[in-house]
Amino acid sequence: MERKSIKSVLVLVAMEAEALPLVNILDLKEDVPPRIAPPAPAVSYTGEKFGITINVVRNGKCQLHGVDNVGTVPAAVTAYLAVHELKPDLVISVGTAGGFKARGAAIGDVFLATAFANHDRRIPIPGFDKYGVWRIDAVPAPNLREALSLKEGVVSSGNSLDYSKEDWDQLHANEAAVKEMEAAGISWVAHLHNVPFLALKSITDIVDGDRPPQEEFLENLHSAAQALQRVISPVLEFVAGKTIKEL
Ligand code: ADE
Repeated sequence: MERKSIKSVLVLVAMEAEALPLVNILDLKEDVPPRIAPPAPAVSYTGEKFGITINVVRNGKCQLHGVDNVGTVPAAVTAYLAVHELKPDLVISVGTAGGFKARGAAIGDVFLATAFANHDRRIPIPGFDKYGVWRIDAVPAPNLREALSLKEGVVSSGNSLDYSKEDWDQLHANEAAVKEMEAAGISWVAHLHNVPFLALKSITDIVDGDRPPQEEFLENLHSAAQALQRVISPVLEFVAGKTIKEL
């Protein structure tokens, strides 16, 4: 696997507002008929760029509530179906996130993940405790990080925008630089399929700051999505045709 050159990249995104700037800059077209069959609500976009196939897949909308499907469950379901259908050489989770200023994060930064873990899966039974936290390394990409001057750190996932005292303690135990709601679920799917997995997360709010995350998130969503739009083409150009070991 590691000697094969990258010819197909799957970019997984939770929210439409995060996905559309990427679809536009990469000049992708929505797949009609859908590549990911209903009743899965995922929406996929495809194009050829930098000599490789690029798919952006978003989770789609919740039929009951009309908002984007977010969190680890939709992320893992979409990832499973998309990996199965598209057989990518590399999966990248792209989206917005909270950042820890104690680990160097500032609003608008784009982080490259070094590892993935959960901070809200508490199962205090031997074996299940470690399973709950999960924790797995991202595929190492030191050359990509340097070429794009990206910050790096552990990405910790949970199913809440805020955090409980228990989440806070586990975020610290995970040495999280970035807090979001999808990557750990996708990392499980990538591991099942033995597909290399990276994540790029743009910071909308400061977790260890003093403002409510929802306020900062809504204020900075647009500029963070633009930061992802700026970085996605150079990232895909860098990985195109390289082997995983060259990243
Ligand atoms: N997405 C953006 N900011 C977040 C935060 N603070 N926690 C979880 N997901 C986020």
